[in-house]
Amino acid sequence: MSSCQPLPNRPRYCLRQLEGVLLTQEQIEARVAALGEEITRDYADRSVTVLGVLNGVVVFLADLLRHLDLPCRLDFVTLCSYGDCAESNGEVSLVKEPALPIAGECVLVVEDIVDTGRTLAWLVEWLRPQAEEVRVCCLLDKPSRRVTPVGLDYVGFEIPDHFVVGYGLDFAQAYRNLPYVAVLKPETYQVVGGE
Ligand code: IMP
Repeated sequence: MSSCQPLPNRPRYCLRQLEGVLLTQEQIEARVAALGEEITRDYADRSVTVLGVLNGVVVFLADLLRHLDLPCRLDFVTLCSYGDCAESNGEVSLVKEPALPIAGECVLVVEDIVDTGRTLAWLVEWLRPQAEEVRVCCLLDKPSRRVTPVGLDYVGFEIPDHFVVGYGLDFAQAYRNLPYVAVLKPETYQVVGGE
């Protein structure tokens, strides 16, 4: 794959399933720092409820949070998106609601990746009537896959239509612990299937 860089020695397992590195650890670190500065500037000391979408967001959010120079509270939601391994079908349910009150708050939703947009659009619709303001930050955006329009206020990287893993993103719960974002070989998910 031309846009990929060669794989380093890590992981020592399952390297055969990875095509190559799409985003290196250094590229991610620099972009996350810049996103944090931009968000800090935009909110200008207003307090924000940072709402992470579990599980894929944990690595990105842990890094982003340390670049936010703002009064902020941290909370999480867990969503269940239905569909086949290729994409969500728009049917979404809230498995874990926010523990903190949302009413009247400025909420910054933080997501790992936006693909069809169905999951995030559902969450934003659920939050909007309750919150004072809802903004969205995602690490990765695959605009060519969009089915449901959703406004993204902060985007780390726009990427082409590849299935990617690492830096929190999984395939069948594997690869979340890679420090970089890699492209999964299509034959892996076409044969095995996804969650
Ligand atoms: P959407 O509703 O189609 O936008 O689905 C978003 C969710 O699908 C993300 O939060 C991920 O859990 C998952 N997803 C979509 N694309 C990828 C990918 O390339 N790698 C890993 N997970 C993905």
